[in-house]
Amino acid sequence: MCGIVGIVGKEPVAERLVDALRRLEYRGYDSAGVATIHDGVMERRRAEGKLVNLERKLGGEPLPGTTGIAHTRWATHGVPNETNAHPHFVEGVAVVHNGIIENFSELRDELVAEGAVFESQTDTEVVAHLLAKYTREGLGHRDAMLAMLNRVTGAYALVVMFQDDPDTILSARFGPPLAIGHGKGEMFLGSDAIALAPFTNQITYLVDGDCAIMTSKGVEIIDYAGKPVSRPKQISQAAAFLVDKGNHRHFMEKEIYEQPEIISHALGYYVDFATQTIKANGSTIDFATVSSLAISACGTAFLSGLVGKYWFERYARLPVEIDVASEFRYREMPLLPTQAALFISQSGETADTLASLRYCKENGLKIGAVVNVKESTIAREADTIYPILAGPEIGVASTKAFTCQLAVLAALSIKAGRQRGTIDAAQERELVHHLIEMPRVMSRVLNLIQPQIEALSRDLSKYKDVLYLGRGTSYPLALEGALKLKEISYIHAEGYAAGELKHGPIALIDENMPVIVIAPYDRFYEKTVSNMQEVAARGGKIIFITDEKGAAASKLPTMATIVLPDVDEVIAPMIFSLPIQLLAYHTAVFMGTDVDQPRNLAKSVTVE
Ligand code: AGP
Repeated sequence: MCGIVGIVGKEPVAERLVDALRRLEYRGYDSAGVATIHDGVMERRRAEGKLVNLERKLGGEPLPGTTGIAHTRWATHGVPNETNAHPHFVEGVAVVHNGIIENFSELRDELVAEGAVFESQTDTEVVAHLLAKYTREGLGHRDAMLAMLNRVTGAYALVVMFQDDPDTILSARFGPPLAIGHGKGEMFLGSDAIALAPFTNQITYLVDGDCAIMTSKGVEIIDYAGKPVSRPKQISQAAAFLVDKGNHRHFMEKEIYEQPEIISHALGYYVDFATQTIKANGSTIDFATVSSLAISACGTAFLSGLVGKYWFERYARLPVEIDVASEFRYREMPLLPTQAALFISQSGETADTLASLRYCKENGLKIGAVVNVKESTIAREADTIYPILAGPEIGVASTKAFTCQLAVLAALSIKAGRQRGTIDAAQERELVHHLIEMPRVMSRVLNLIQPQIEALSRDLSKYKDVLYLGRGTSYPLALEGALKLKEISYIHAEGYAAGELKHGPIALIDENMPVIVIAPYDRFYEKTVSNMQEVAARGGKIIFITDEKGAAASKLPTMATIVLPDVDEVIAPMIFSLPIQLLAYHTAVFMGTDVDQPRNLAKSVTVE
């Protein structure tokens, strides 16, 4: 979950490296550093905290040099301070790293026994010491790199500079992504194509087991045995502009409000507006040939998959097995080649989700990837890509990606229903008609509820614990609402199936813990209202998120009732996502937390 960038250039690079890091800050931001080589001398500047601290340091102590590497960190080993910030230096070797060196402890003991002196607590530093050792023993830079790569184990993207070779940057990938950018008389390297977009759109992606030797003239890629391998050069679609906040205070607020427009892009890709049907869209999974579906993802992406499970089972009568990716492959569930698997990931780089995809691929399943980054590792390793077309999502708390994932899963479940003959053409038209209406309804809702939610959030920010309840597809929304609130406001929040209240959580109910009930007027409404009565009877405070029919039908006193338009159940999850996103956002703003870059989090979790 760190960001890496390197340039072998023809003009001073320090500023461009930091600009590129800014595009990678979403990958981690607890410290940053840059190193360059100038007149045979390698120097570095590092700073704890946000990138702005490194920029400040560079302002006072500029770094010359036309070759350099830089890094923004999300700490795995060693507290986030300057000493542990990358690049790590040892005897004229500089290293930056994203991932985990799993055998670092054994290597560190071995190196210390040989007299190595470590300055940091990081796993990365063993790489620098290994390279220095092999160089001392007479190996050339390429051979020292290969010797090191054959010793370390784990998941890593490594980038290395040697002080006595200022025109070369070496790198290697095993897990976290690395992209090579082709310039004119200069070459670039980064964690993803977005970082390189201002320099070039000609990208070569390294794959696991690649080692790249990059000079200003080009790049040579070899495997760990030193054998040349060839990788295609492709034109990246990554946005060449740095996404900005427009007139919003935070990226998260912007991304919440752009959902109506953004989700219409996703609909445009999957829906034929004229015939009100789901498009064929080239090579996709034929769900008529599929015996069952496995879905795996992490965090908010997992929760969109949980909604998808309800839809695939209801509209396509397709059994769905779903689990969080960090558990999925360890359960060793029996898998058959007649099954298909869907992996949902905004970044397309989440290590656990990627590992689950590979597990299913080894078992011969058809693999679909519901992703936002079409050039990501998960996308590249899937048989079929289902893009969500949400555009760059910068806020660490996922919002527009979530509703776009839902829109795609709704379209796929309708498509699966048609392929499996469980819904007819008329039912497809009706369901698609509701999808087509969705952007307009979302716009209306956002304007309708904003003032009430902002006022309510001021009250909510005073509490230490919050419980979210929902049934049916509102149950994953209860989980998502709790995740949103906890990850950006740091208030403890739990999501629960409303029917489970009396099996334990009801013991928590008192006036100190608001209960947020998500209940459109659907077939579960009456039962959920009974749960609300159980809460009210114990002095619990209810925040009721319902629709017009639900509000009219309930006489229960509440702390607040947020009334949304009556909508069809197929789009209710997208519409009811809006109040839970806004509630989390405004509560966090009142709490004064860093909404776009909450503490301890990163946008893309590329370590297991
Ligand atoms: C979402 O608000 C979280 N920040 C996080 O749970 C995220 O959804 C999860 O890490 C999965 O990321 P991905 O979609 O990029 O795979």
